[in-house]
Amino acid sequence: MKELNPTDPIGQNIIKAISNVCFSVFVFSVLIFTVIAITYQPPDPWESSRALTKIFTDYENATFKTDSSVFKTGEDIAASPLATPAGSLPPITESTIKQSEDQITTNSTLKSGCEDSSTLNCSDPRVLIAIQRFNLKTYKAIAFLDYQTPVNGSKPDECDVAWRFRNKKEKSWRKYRDFRRFRIGINDDDCSYKVVRPGRWHSGVNARRPRTQVISDGKDRTAKIAPPVKDDEIYDTIPVLGSDSAFRQGRYESLYMEFLCALGEARYLNRTFVMDLSVCLASTYTQSNKDEEGKDFRYYFDFEHLKEASPIVEEGEFMRDWKKWEKTRKTKVPLRKVASYKVTPMQLRRDKSTIIWRQFDAPEPENYWYRVCEGPAGKYIERPWESLWKSKRLMNIVSEISGSMDWDFDAVHVVRGEKANNKMLWPNLDADTSPDSLVNKLQGTIAPWRNLYVATNEPFYNYFDKLRSNYKVHLLDDYKYLWGNTSEWYNETTALNGGRPVEFDGYMRVEVDTEVLYRSKTRVETFYNLTTDCKDGINTC
Ligand SMILES: *[C@@H]1O[C@H](CO)[C@@H](O)[C@H](O)[C@H]1NC(C)=O
Ligand SMILES: *[C@@H]1O[C@H](CO)[C@@H](O)[C@H](O)[C@H]1NC(C)=O
Ligand SMILES: *[C@@H]1O[C@H](CO)[C@@H](O)[C@H](O)[C@H]1NC(C)=O
Ligand SMILES: *[C@@H]1O[C@H](CO)[C@@H](O)[C@H](O)[C@H]1NC(C)=O
Ligand SMILES: *[C@@H]1O[C@H](CO)[C@@H](O)[C@H](O)[C@H]1NC(C)=O
Ligand SMILES: *[C@@H]1O[C@H](CO)[C@@H](O)[C@H](O)[C@H]1NC(C)=O
Ligand SMILES: *[C@@H]1O[C@H](CO)[C@@H](O)[C@H](O)[C@H]1NC(C)=O
Ligand SMILES: *[C@@H]1O[C@H](CO)[C@@H](O)[C@H](O)[C@H]1NC(C)=O
Repeated sequence: MKELNPTDPIGQNIIKAISNVCFSVFVFSVLIFTVIAITYQPPDPWESSRALTKIFTDYENATFKTDSSVFKTGEDIAASPLATPAGSLPPITESTIKQSEDQITTNSTLKSGCEDSSTLNCSDPRVLIAIQRFNLKTYKAIAFLDYQTPVNGSKPDECDVAWRFRNKKEKSWRKYRDFRRFRIGINDDDCSYKVVRPGRWHSGVNARRPRTQVISDGKDRTAKIAPPVKDDEIYDTIPVLGSDSAFRQGRYESLYMEFLCALGEARYLNRTFVMDLSVCLASTYTQSNKDEEGKDFRYYFDFEHLKEASPIVEEGEFMRDWKKWEKTRKTKVPLRKVASYKVTPMQLRRDKSTIIWRQFDAPEPENYWYRVCEGPAGKYIERPWESLWKSKRLMNIVSEISGSMDWDFDAVHVVRGEKANNKMLWPNLDADTSPDSLVNKLQGTIAPWRNLYVATNEPFYNYFDKLRSNYKVHLLDDYKYLWGNTSEWYNETTALNGGRPVEFDGYMRVEVDTEVLYRSKTRVETFYNLTTDCKDGINTC
């Protein structure tokens, strides 16, 4: 827990008491309950505050106006997948390839492949065109956005090339990178280039290296330009609502309900949302089997995107500014404390306090935030699902896993764990998800020797071994290196965590498993497909 304002205008002890209870998957500690007024501002209260000024001005100009379009985008994406936000790259299509091909052939002084078949020149634009065509035809799940000029591979007939892409199943415009090695040949009939053999995911290591491009300015001078190594403009992922519904069981909901209800109320009141990025992760998801506080929101979710979608300020910064302001002015910021969920958002509409603080000191379930959004308030508060996306760091792992199977895989979601043990509520689940039963059921649905990704909460790795005599089985733990101590994820989360390594915990596993599952071609679900038991227990379906 962060040290809160020592002058403690609100009663820190109560805050601690609440935040120590890690009663759901996450507890966003108490400052999430704070909402800052911006409809009414006492004479320039925050002039000293860089952060808040930025929040306010951002809000004034853009945030709420663009909110409606964010809403729209989230909802419309499935209906119109080509609606790209301003500045996005359009995907490469056969007609754009044809265009660049026409340009080359009309102006070209290049020799054709047959005339010059002794040496392959990877930077010949026609090589890239052959690769682009090949990719377009082969990887139908992918929208290709832009390519770098191919470079030499390890043999004379090989070229390495890097590109950025989107997965069409991801309802966002996030971009990912791939680089592959291709063996290039010549078509006998028209001397054009062709791909003889594509390399595997991330095989084109020469194209990956940050290299300095040598660019001639035509006067025999050259300039060295270092291309960007990292793609920084990436904020997108699947809206969490859709993607998590498959995994939502019991207590997940309270995370989303609480968080999104609070955020929804702040929006309804046209106020900025104050949140503590430090969250508590429940024991079911930790290696220690104990509740763990101090997890960073950004391990799990995309804070960058959240900030863009809603006016938000980080708690620590807010508290510092608050304290400073009261100290210099020797006066209090108008504050309204709300101790019960029974005070509705509609009642708070007319409140002119600079800060509205919902502070529930009663025991749960009285203190569940989502109760604020129940009843009549439900008509007014929209929960901004579209503002909560999964962490890009996790999504990169998702991309690595599905990319390493060339996006050509089927998946089965096998729910076991507590449910399989509870014969009262799920009488058949254990048997229906037993190895023999899985083999039988999947054989009717998934062709032999397909890549089969098993998304599961079954902890025993070898549990699915029987499937290996029919399928190429992939489990999350096969990809440990993606979060191991030599991985990009490890580096980045360690940096976020002040240099201490971060555990790849159960919640992250669920997030990644979910997303890989959603990228599969054929998906088999436990409930409906493997068992007739109901998802929520006996007689609930
Ligand atoms: C807000 O928009 C106005 C008009 O478009 C512009 O002049 C002003 O600089 C913007 N303010 C901020 C903080 O971006
Ligand atoms: C090809 O030539 C035409 C006219 O000669 C010119 O307009 C066009 O820009 C050239 N394209 C390239 C790629 O050089
Ligand atoms: C390879 O092709 C590029 C682009 O057409 C050209 O600039 C370069 O000189 C060629 N290199 C060789 C070795 O032929
Ligand atoms: C690429 O390979 C060709 C022939 O194999 C060679 O002539 C050329 O210099 C190589 N280019 C680079 C940048 O190494
Ligand atoms: C929030 O702002 C919108 C648009 O400016 C306005 O219609 C609405 O009444 C405001 N709500 C409150 C609670 O002030
Ligand atoms: C990474 O982990 C392995 C095994 O857990 C260990 O042997 C190795 O020293 C670690 N490397 C670093 C750089 O921490
Ligand atoms: C992680 O960081 C170490 C040390 O800064 C660096 O040597 C290594 O290349 C990085 N690994 C990745 C995958 O970025
Ligand atoms: C799984 O069950 C659903 C609902 O009954 C059905 O629509 C879907 O086709 C089934 N999937 C497979 C792979 O059999």
